[in-house]
Amino acid sequence: MKSLTADELRKLYIDFFVSKGHKQISGASLIPENDPTVLFTTAGMHPLVPYILGAEHPAGNMLTDYQKCIRTGDIDSVGDPHHLTFFEMLGNWSLGAYFKKEAINYSYEFLTKYLGIDPDKLSVTVFAGDGNAPRDEEAASVWKSLGIPEERIFYMPKEDNWWGPAGETGPCGPDSEMFIDTGRPACGPDCRPGCSCGKYFEIWNDVFMGYRKDEDGSYNEMARKCIDTGMGIERTIAILQGKKSVYETEVFTPIIARVEELTGRHYGDNEEDDISIRIISDHIRTSVFILGDQRGVAPSNVGQGYILRRLIRRAVRHGRKLGIEGSFLSKIASVVLSLYQAPYPELKEHEAFIYDELAKEEAKFSDTLAKGEREFEKMLPNLMKGTSRVISGRLAFKLYDTYGFPIELTEELAREHGFSVDVKGFQEAFQKHQELSRAGAEGQFKGGLADHGEATTALHTATHLLHKALSVVLGGYVKQLGSNITAERLRFDFNNPQALTKEQLKAVEDLVNEQIQKDLPVTCETMTLDEARAQGAAAQFDAKYGEKVKVYSIGDFSKEVCGGPHVEHTGTMGHFRIVKEQSSSAGVRRIKAVLEK
Ligand code: SER
Repeated sequence: MKSLTADELRKLYIDFFVSKGHKQISGASLIPENDPTVLFTTAGMHPLVPYILGAEHPAGNMLTDYQKCIRTGDIDSVGDPHHLTFFEMLGNWSLGAYFKKEAINYSYEFLTKYLGIDPDKLSVTVFAGDGNAPRDEEAASVWKSLGIPEERIFYMPKEDNWWGPAGETGPCGPDSEMFIDTGRPACGPDCRPGCSCGKYFEIWNDVFMGYRKDEDGSYNEMARKCIDTGMGIERTIAILQGKKSVYETEVFTPIIARVEELTGRHYGDNEEDDISIRIISDHIRTSVFILGDQRGVAPSNVGQGYILRRLIRRAVRHGRKLGIEGSFLSKIASVVLSLYQAPYPELKEHEAFIYDELAKEEAKFSDTLAKGEREFEKMLPNLMKGTSRVISGRLAFKLYDTYGFPIELTEELAREHGFSVDVKGFQEAFQKHQELSRAGAEGQFKGGLADHGEATTALHTATHLLHKALSVVLGGYVKQLGSNITAERLRFDFNNPQALTKEQLKAVEDLVNEQIQKDLPVTCETMTLDEARAQGAAAQFDAKYGEKVKVYSIGDFSKEVCGGPHVEHTGTMGHFRIVKEQSSSAGVRRIKAVLEK
């Protein structure tokens, strides 16, 4: 195997695919422009969803890039030697240009010839088949034609061998994952690729994007089949360099060295310190990328800003735990900047913003962290006396409200002392507080609704009908990107790569009017955002942790998270007419529509 650095691997990969006729495109922002259902870009394919769904990409139908990604599902696992919140993904895409045979051939050639991986050490998985898609004998036979023997081709079910969609709806399909046998003994007779014992190391994933998952949960075959592949840079260089952990590669060692300097601790001496060192290193690295993004955000209590706040506050706490006094985040951030400013020039452009926001958040939190921790420690002897090892929701809310402890931080503190937290009780306390400051929260729900008069209320309901009708006519990928309602008209912005045809506009109009004529009842329920999403409700924003949201249903036709108000029955709304359809910005269309009596 060739021992490559991240910079070398990035270049080798892109050059390889360019030499095979792919066009290099720029990676996109970490904050998805066209998908409000997820907070961050989680994969290289994410920004390409409209093109995988059928739109033409200006750079052609064979593409390659490197993409910044954040996966927040892993935040709580960060601290162990393997998890990261930020990582880079290499990818190549075919938008209908080639399919399984070519994709697998490229992967095999790159792995064996360019990365120097011994073909005898490669194992692969393919989809075992189910009601949605057949057993992937096609992919298996391509692997066999390249010399991978039957016993190293594993057929796996949907949980393991199906990728996507990246958000709630969109392109997805069976995949074929490639693994390197690390030479460690198998942990048992059932040990196979995907097993966590460490024998098999996943290096690459070829996804055969042949399906689209729609809002009703169904999988529908796409007319034009695409290829999406993804290789994580940090993981791959770790295995190529023979390192046990991504934290031992050159993208982390200078960051860790700075943490060592600031703390006087030595990485590798003590597991508890190592956990803190990894948390500080990962979280500051990710924070720098969120702040320094082309669409960067500042810490806040909602959405991406809340994740950023959690990352920064957790880093500060672990810094204090290792004995750092005073401000230290910028000292570590500067190392991240120097490591990454060549491949990501936006970091340098936003340097001042990065340092300013880190310093502000650090100062804001440092003041109360010590007090909050003291408060927590003070409660401990009392808590220890009882038999319950649960911190009450009321106390967790006090730490949140008074000391700015994100609930996750309280949970971590509690865990360190052998306690858990009554998160449900916290949510209730939070909810009560929310109701008290309802006026503020309501503003967030309004979504561009100027007043609550009769005309605007009907137009608001029409907006929900329009949103749903667009996703029926155009595809489940359509999302609301903006809405503005006056007494005269509604205005609705949504993602779509091209103008709507006359026929599409007519179909949308007809579908909305059909629902109005059916005189559907409009009903409202209150639930958490997760519950709403599980029911397939469309949601335009990310509510605060634990916050309850209202979900409006219009018959069985539409379900959306929204603050209201709405008409009670659609029959009173009048006739819906689209007066204008135009471009709003790249990839975003705008519809203006009216209700006529
Ligand atoms: N989208 C797939 C993944 O994230 C391949 O790029 O693994």
